[in-house]
Amino acid sequence: MCAEDKAVKQGLDRRRYERLAPFYDLLELPMELLAFSRWRRLLFHNIRGGRLLEVGIGTGKNIPHYPENVSFVGIDISLRMLLRAKKRAMGSGRSVELVLADVEALPFRDQSFDAAVASYVFCSVENPLRGLREVRRVLRRGGRARFLEHMRCENRIGGALLDLLNPLVRLIGPEINRRTAENIRRAGFRILEERWLFTSLFRLVTAERNNFPD
Ligand SMILES: C[S@@+](CC[C@H](N)C(=O)[O-])C[C@H]1O[C@@H](n2cnc3c(N)ncnc32)[C@H](O)[C@@H]1O
Repeated sequence: MCAEDKAVKQGLDRRRYERLAPFYDLLELPMELLAFSRWRRLLFHNIRGGRLLEVGIGTGKNIPHYPENVSFVGIDISLRMLLRAKKRAMGSGRSVELVLADVEALPFRDQSFDAAVASYVFCSVENPLRGLREVRRVLRRGGRARFLEHMRCENRIGGALLDLLNPLVRLIGPEINRRTAENIRRAGFRILEERWLFTSLFRLVTAERNNFPD
């Protein structure tokens, strides 16, 4: 795909989330009740103190689970999503710095965060590897990142099915067959724990920025 096509696609993705923002919480409600909200709590396990980046904060569904004594910065490419996150932060009395930004080009200094989290984001970032490398860049040495993501199944039949359905789903939503755990590794992280929450489809990955030179 040439650079121009990529920019157009990125714009389409952003517009999709702009359109989705008012209905996003309602659309996700069944999944939220079934499992998502339970899994969100796991994102912040053992995170204490420091400055934390939330990538693709969306409508701010993780905000009520933010631990105390941590300073949060949330980014998203969709302004409408951020406005909803702002409302949620005010409603839950939490202070979050919200920034309109693309994870593929983060407007932060190298090693300026102690930790990072993302939930259900790297299925829709246009170039996930570039985004993950940016997350690594802004994390301090030894900083940890936690990702709650759906990914391509390890099971052969399940994986093939997701490959088959992906072009259809991609027309209206995210990619469903990304190898996100592998991308996290390729982006310069050491995986400390990979927990399968619902088969290998939904996973919680805890990773540490490796210490190799950039
Ligand atoms: C499926 S939603 C998940 C939102 C939220 N993390 C949650 O758990 O409910 C994906 C979010 O990622 C954002 N997003 C997609 N691509 C992005 C990018 N390149 N940079 C920053 N945010 C992005 C979208 O705007 C959207 O808010």
